[in-house]
Amino acid sequence: MSSFDHRKYKSFASIALPNRRWPDRVIEKAPRWCSVDLRDGNQALIEPMTARQKSLLWDQLVKIGFKEIEVGFPSASSHDYEFVRELIENDRIPDDVTIQVLTQARPDLIEKTFKALAGARRVIVHVYNSTSTVQREQVFGLDRKGIVDIAVKGAELVRDCAARHPKTEWMFEYSPESFTGTELDFAVEICDAVTAVWQPTPQRPVIINLPATVEASTPNVYADQIEWFCDHVANRESLLISLHTHNDRGCAVAASELGVLAGADRVEGTLMGNGERTGNMDIITMAMNLYSQGVDPELNLGDMDEILHTTRECTHLPVHPRHPYAGELVFTAFSGSHQDAIKKCLAKRDDSAPWEVAYLPIDPQDIGRSYQEVIRINSQSGKGGIAFVLQRDYGLELPRWLQIDFSGLVQAYAEEQETEVGSEAVYQLFHDTYLAASGRWELGNYQVSREDGVDQLQATLQEGSTKHTLSGTGSGVVASFVDAMQVFTGKHIVLVEYSEHALSHSADAEAVCYIQLNIDGERFCGVGRSSDIVQASLDGILGAINRAAGRAQIAAA
Ligand code: KIV
Ligand code: ZN
Repeated sequence: MSSFDHRKYKSFASIALPNRRWPDRVIEKAPRWCSVDLRDGNQALIEPMTARQKSLLWDQLVKIGFKEIEVGFPSASSHDYEFVRELIENDRIPDDVTIQVLTQARPDLIEKTFKALAGARRVIVHVYNSTSTVQREQVFGLDRKGIVDIAVKGAELVRDCAARHPKTEWMFEYSPESFTGTELDFAVEICDAVTAVWQPTPQRPVIINLPATVEASTPNVYADQIEWFCDHVANRESLLISLHTHNDRGCAVAASELGVLAGADRVEGTLMGNGERTGNMDIITMAMNLYSQGVDPELNLGDMDEILHTTRECTHLPVHPRHPYAGELVFTAFSGSHQDAIKKCLAKRDDSAPWEVAYLPIDPQDIGRSYQEVIRINSQSGKGGIAFVLQRDYGLELPRWLQIDFSGLVQAYAEEQETEVGSEAVYQLFHDTYLAASGRWELGNYQVSREDGVDQLQATLQEGSTKHTLSGTGSGVVASFVDAMQVFTGKHIVLVEYSEHALSHSADAEAVCYIQLNIDGERFCGVGRSSDIVQASLDGILGAINRAAGRAQIAAA
């Protein structure tokens, strides 16, 4: 019998908040960020970071611009202890960066934490104990008062230890761990009891961090909890309300965003959302969400590949190719209609106007990515994407009718290969199909003369070792050559489409000429490329006829 049975679970109770205000708000400013990569992130790794990895990640976090960084749990880990010492003793903490350390509200751990911090310029001491009903009843076997006592004693010891080291600028943070599983009135009661010890003022505020230690509700419920808490906690103006969401339901970013709408000032999280179980809130995503709405995220995420590289190197965790903003495929479109829309929007893009490109929420270049990756070709791609690649990499501006002709060939090729088709392969296919001089006939010499307003063309065609001579008349060299080929092949040939352009990618000022002919009722395309525009036109015509000859075995007249 399967044990998959939803009746085992109960739904999360909603919060009675009839006049909730957060749904009508908009985030207009970045919150204070705190990276907890070196603590919460590190605690979740199969192999915790080495000193070298921590050091690398620290440098990266500083480079990104974090001003508050939780560097470890020094009383619980000797490696964290040593790392904190290393940062302090080697003066590696910039003036505008504050380190944060975590400790449980236990006397021995608090004392050891302060020992680790000797000589630090400025520190946030983050103390926590668990407050949820399940933790109180099943883990600690304590009532509310017992849990408040732990928090208050911890807060008192933190205050007293700090007073013994007045040269350090101290800031205090308290987390009622498992806040989201705690009755709201009790969360307020215990936080009030802690702040009564610390006596914050608006000038010297205290951080109250409200963790979704395990995410168990929809993000709107979390927002309700935050708004309710902010409305009921004492001395709100002297508190920095901080969020710390985990991603068990996959909504950690949404929960933090709604929590900020609900009144929070500060957000804790990690790069790419590394952390316990399904991870912490991903700061990259939340910050980039702000950025994409025109809000300064106050973090520099302009070199996303470097951030990705460091994160991978330090955590040994892969980053999903579709991870928001950072993944390797997030700006790539394979589908034909998407490619077409992107191509059109990029072509019309006015750099002075706000970004508005279909299927691209931000400009990939902003985070160090290129348009190379935006359009990639596989069997689902269409004419727009294929034309985009040929233009971007080879300077070819295919007219629409040729895009249609060519895209069918690329699709068939991709289906046969059962893989992505790189830009070089697309060009090679284009070259072999339309441009190659390897068709049945090759154009030799030609001459054009004009008599009584009519052009006359004489040309030689090489067919293996045989040389043919042909002639035709018309208005202009193109019409004369088409006439000559009609006479030569005995087929009815009509010029349907013609377009040309100079090749911007070419150093020799080459021109490209695109031709479509109707040959006995069927259409064939050809392309000529030469530094001489007449030669390019004639090559294009012959390319189309050679293609038809290859298909229909046109017999020489
Ligand atoms: O997730 C959590 O509750 C924590 C606390 C220690 C803040 O990491
Ligand atoms: Zn956590």
